[in-house]
Amino acid sequence: MKQPFNIMHILPSGTRQYCMHGWVAHIDNTCVGHIHMLIEANQRIKFLDAWVHEEYRRRGIFRSLWDTRWQYVQSNYPEYTAYAWCKPMSLPLLLEKGFTTGESSIYVERKVPITSKQTRSFPSTDCPVTC
Ligand SMILES: CC(C)(COP(=O)(O)OP(=O)(O)OC[C@H]1O[C@@H](n2cnc3c(N)ncnc32)[C@H](O)[C@@H]1OP(=O)(O)O)[C@@H](O)C(=O)NCCC(=O)NCCS
Repeated sequence: MKQPFNIMHILPSGTRQYCMHGWVAHIDNTCVGHIHMLIEANQRIKFLDAWVHEEYRRRGIFRSLWDTRWQYVQSNYPEYTAYAWCKPMSLPLLLEKGFTTGESSIYVERKVPITSKQTRSFPSTDCPVTC
């Protein structure tokens, strides 16, 4: 059974990124999904950090969050350019909403090596336990 959910708008507070807005979907005060946006220079808005809890996916939560944010953007930021870096799961909705594809990107990573001069600041696991 689909549970009803509510959406809370977290406005920029000055205690974290001052230009970040968040929208949180919650059921009984537990977060089940969120999206964010950053107001950037040159009348640009970055849409980011879309997430819905695995147990609540494919019930329209992302769509509702998206529509709520879009309504706010349309009311407050006419003429701005909204953009996002999408994953395959979020791309279809953005295309449906009239966004066009641009550059793609590739995720890369590496572990930062420990140099010979660095020592660990925490006890190693083979340290004898004496208490
Ligand atoms: C992407 C995500 C936020 C979608 O949340 P959701 O609440 O399940 O999405 P909705 O039910 O509102 O679906 C809205 C639309 O998104 C698209 N969509 C959602 N899940 C999808 C999937 N697994 N594959 C393809 N399209 C998908 C569809 O276009 C869908 O519309 P439809 O239901 O009419 O087909 C969720 O799967 C998630 O948190 N994924 C992991 C994090 C992630 O990838 N975030 C995106 C970062 S860019």
